[in-house]
Amino acid sequence: MDTQSQKLLVTAALPYANGPLHVGHLAGAYIPADVYVRYQRLKGSDVLFICGSDEHGVPITIRADREGITPKEVVDRYHAAISESFRRVGLEFDNYSRTSLPLHHRISQEFFLTLNRKGFVTEQSVQQYYCITCGRFLPDRYIEGECPHCHRQEARGDQCEACGRWLEPELLVSPKCKVCGSPPELRSTKHWYFRLSAFQEQLEKWQASKSEWKNNVREFCSGWFQEGLTDRPITRDIDWGVPVPLPDAEGKVLYVWFDAPIGYISSSVEWAQKRGEPERWRDYWCNPGTRLIHFIGKDNIVFHAI
Ligand code: 2FM
Ligand code: ZN
Repeated sequence: MDTQSQKLLVTAALPYANGPLHVGHLAGAYIPADVYVRYQRLKGSDVLFICGSDEHGVPITIRADREGITPKEVVDRYHAAISESFRRVGLEFDNYSRTSLPLHHRISQEFFLTLNRKGFVTEQSVQQYYCITCGRFLPDRYIEGECPHCHRQEARGDQCEACGRWLEPELLVSPKCKVCGSPPELRSTKHWYFRLSAFQEQLEKWQASKSEWKNNVREFCSGWFQEGLTDRPITRDIDWGVPVPLPDAEGKVLYVWFDAPIGYISSSVEWAQKRGEPERWRDYWCNPGTRLIHFIGKDNIVFHAI
């Protein structure tokens, strides 16, 4: 190694602020990350260790609806509880942020606008269930019905928990709005899609260069590449999340998996601001010599590796 110590950017998956932390979370991602960071520091590496609460997404709005409180109350409660659990376990992040911060909203919107300006975002009209009683479009998880495969009654619009199959809400037999129980109707709405398909070749080459990645991660990605990367909707019709920063996008927010990984960057920016060195995050994120290491659960592979 040269005179400068190796720079490491270590991230631990942002936990959803919709419930308390479990031992499984700690054992699976957070304690291994903390051990690794302590080890690297003993070796003299220059480490930035980043995390924060993932405060958007439909599971949070569902919990809020169920308890008759606002999504903000849900995330305030669990952000405090999770931070306290980390403190009591002795986990020491350099910064533990949260995605409801205006700073995070601004940075996520900048990403969206840059991709849009470069032509990697397209607008598409889609048919989606709308609940007339509730007066809103229903995200997949807000719809329940009979599973077309195993005929279980309360299958969710995205997956049947009884038989485990992935579903589309249109496949459910007798769909119902999960909040009020009314049958929803299909209406046309528009969403913005990220042109992931445009990156297939570039990403395949990049992954091939990552011989140090774990085998299960490489195999998982190869499966995706074989099926062919498709364009992905990155907006949702809910009123909790990062607003889509376009004039004709009222009531639309960015999909939680679009903004959550950007949380690693906004948490680093917040860390730099708190130190009074607002540009310092660039030493890690914009330095080709930095190694970026993510501690994640296996459900998170696609969103981090691809
Ligand atoms: O699976 C989860 O718990 C997600 N909240 C992880 C997000 S990791 C990152 F990308 F923000
Ligand atoms: Zn309803």
